[in-house]
Amino acid sequence: MSETRKKSERTFKKIFLVLGTRPQIIKSVPILQEALKQDLCIQIIHTGQHYDASLSQVFFDELSPSAPLVNLNVGSGSHIYQSAEIMLRLEKHLIMEKPSLVLVPGDTNSAFAGAIASVKLGIDVAHLESGARSYDMKMAEEINRRLIDHSAQLLFAPTANCQKNLQGESVTGEIYLTGDTMYDNFLNFTNQADKNSIWEELNLIDNDYILLTTHRSENVDDPAKLQGILQTVQKAKMHVIFPIHPRTKERLKRSGISFNNTNIRAINPVGYIEMLALLKHAKIAITDSGGLQKEAFWSKTPCITIRDRTEWTETVDLGVNFITDVNPARITQALKHIKENYTEIKSKFRNNPYGDGKASEKIVRILKEKINL
Ligand code: UD1
Ligand code: UDP
Repeated sequence: MSETRKKSERTFKKIFLVLGTRPQIIKSVPILQEALKQDLCIQIIHTGQHYDASLSQVFFDELSPSAPLVNLNVGSGSHIYQSAEIMLRLEKHLIMEKPSLVLVPGDTNSAFAGAIASVKLGIDVAHLESGARSYDMKMAEEINRRLIDHSAQLLFAPTANCQKNLQGESVTGEIYLTGDTMYDNFLNFTNQADKNSIWEELNLIDNDYILLTTHRSENVDDPAKLQGILQTVQKAKMHVIFPIHPRTKERLKRSGISFNNTNIRAINPVGYIEMLALLKHAKIAITDSGGLQKEAFWSKTPCITIRDRTEWTETVDLGVNFITDVNPARITQALKHIKENYTEIKSKFRNNPYGDGKASEKIVRILKEKINL
C-alpha cells in the first residue's frame, strides 16, 4: 500500500469512545494517551450523563486526555430515559461519522446505550473492563455489563477471573486478557499523588483517618441505609473524610440527615490525584465504589466494601477487602478486625491480579489490528 493511501486511511479510520461519567473518563485516560503514541484516532463522545465540573471537566483538566468531539448533554433522569436518549442522540453521529469501531468503558448507562446503539447500526463494539460480574441482577450496572458483553465483538477482560466469567457465558466476541487500565492510570499518576498534600491541608494525620465514599443508589436512595452508614462510621473513633458524590448530597438534603459536629468531615468531590493522595494516606477506606476498591488495593489501604457483594472478588480473596453490606455490626466488626490485624493485613498486598500496567498498550494494539491500521 502506498504511503499516501496509508496516511489517508489513518485520517479516515477512527474509533469512537463513548463515555459520560467520572469513572469512565478515568479508566479511558491511559487508552487515549496510548492512542496518541500509537497514532490511532480516538474521538470522544461525551453523553453528558455527568455534567457537574467536579464529576467530569476536572478530569479532562488534570489528566489531559483529548477533549470530547461532542457532548450529547443528556443529563440526569431515569435509567430508561437516560439510555434511550443517549441512543437517540448518538445515532446521528454514528451515521454521519461512520466510526470503524465504538469503544465503551465500564458498566454505566452511557456504556450500555453506546454499545446497543452501535451494534444496532452494524458497528463493531469493544468493551473495556469486560467480564466483571457481581451476580446481582437488581444492580443497574450488572444488567448493563452483561448486555454489553453479549453485544461486543472485542472484550477486554482486566483479570483472569473476568476472562473466566466471559468464557462461562459463551459470549460470541473475542476475549482478550489485557489487565486493568485503571491500574495503568494508577501507575502513571502515583508520583503526582505522592507529592499531593491535600490530606495535610485538610489537617488529617497520616495513616490515622478513614476515607469514606458512598454513591450507589441501593445505599443512598434509602434514607435508613444512608443514616445507618453514617451512624456506624461515627462510632469508629477516627477522623473520617467524606468526599460527597452529588447524588448522595442531594439524598442527604432531601431526607434531612446531618452529621454536624461529628468525626465525619464532608467535602466536595475531589480530583483524581487528590483522591489517590487521600487513599494512600488513609488507614482504612470504606466505600461502595467499584474503582475505589481496586485503587485501595494498589495503594495498600485495607478496604471495607459496604455492599453485599462485589465484582472485584480478587481483593476479597487476597484478604484485604472486607464485604460488610451496610450492616452496622459487620462494618464495626470489620473495622475492629483491620485495626487489630493491621500489620498482617498490610503484608497481604501482593500478587496484583490486575495486570502489568500495560493494559492500554495492548488494547490499542488490538484495536489497531482490528480496524486494519
Ligand atoms: C453513575 C453510574 C454508576 C457509577 C457512577 C459513578 C449508572 C446506572 N450509574 O451513577 O455505575 O458508579 O455514575 O459516579 O450509569 N448528579 C448531579 N450532577 C451530575 C451527575 C449527577 O448532581 O453531574 C446527581 C443527580 O441528582 C442525578 C444523580 O446524581 O439524578 C445520579 O446520577 P446518575 O448519573 O444517574 O447516576 P450516578 O449515581 O452518578
Ligand atoms: N474519584 C475521584 N474523586 C472523588 C471520588 C472518586 O477522583 O471524589 C475517582 C476514584 O479515584 C476512582 C473513580 O473516581 O478512580 C471511581 O468513581 P466512582 O466511585 O464514582 O464510580 P465507580 O467506580 O463505583 O463506578
